[in-house]
Amino acid sequence: MKDLSLHILDLSQNSISAGAGLVKITVNEDIKKDTLTISIEDDGKGIQKDLLKNIMDPFVTTRTSRKVGLGIPLMQAACRRCEGDLAIESEENVGTKLTATFRHGHIDRAPMGDMAETMLTLILAGSDSDRSVDFVYKHILNSEEFCLDTREIRTALGSEINLGRPDVLMWIKGYINEGLKNLRGGM
Ligand SMILES: Nc1ncnc2c1ncn2[C@@H]1O[C@H](COP(=O)(O)OP(=O)(O)OP(=O)(O)O)[C@@H](O)[C@H]1O
Ligand SMILES: [Mg+2]
Repeated sequence: MKDLSLHILDLSQNSISAGAGLVKITVNEDIKKDTLTISIEDDGKGIQKDLLKNIMDPFVTTRTSRKVGLGIPLMQAACRRCEGDLAIESEENVGTKLTATFRHGHIDRAPMGDMAETMLTLILAGSDSDRSVDFVYKHILNSEEFCLDTREIRTALGSEINLGRPDVLMWIKGYINEGLKNLRGGM
């Protein structure tokens, strides 16, 4: 059973590969409704209509290095095991939105995992010298909310500082871990 943070990492890497400038990751845990919803929205190149029709099929990939693409089918399987599903909306040259749902308390629901690690890996992957990808990570638990927006950090630090710098990444990691801890009532 793979942590949800690793699924989020996989699917957001698709967004980076698709040339996105902004990737919005939202995790919404509603304990009362017993739902957990993860959405990943990007402004990348989108998915062609005929590929979109078959995208849940593991043999569908535009990778040239191997013949299977597993990120999407694995997430769909994880959702379906937990009375949820995966929905994908996409428009060419506009972007893509994935919405994954789970029953929060389902026995097979994978743990959230290490979201700070996932965000660090994404920010690093998205901070090449030739382009920078921004991320908005919003985590909602019942009525509480935590938000990380790399655009705000960029503005605060100034344009000459790369977000992939080790000290910046360490600060972001602490910020996420602290924010998520507060969200869970200091636990
Ligand atoms: N956000 C996205 N924007 C544009 N195209 C996407 C996006 N997500 C997926 N795709 C397309 O769907 C295909 C299948 O995605 P999937 O994650 O299942 O497999 P993969 O990325 O090809 O391989 P893997 O995830 O196993 O490394 C990708 O090859 C890509 O062409
Ligand atoms: Mg993938």
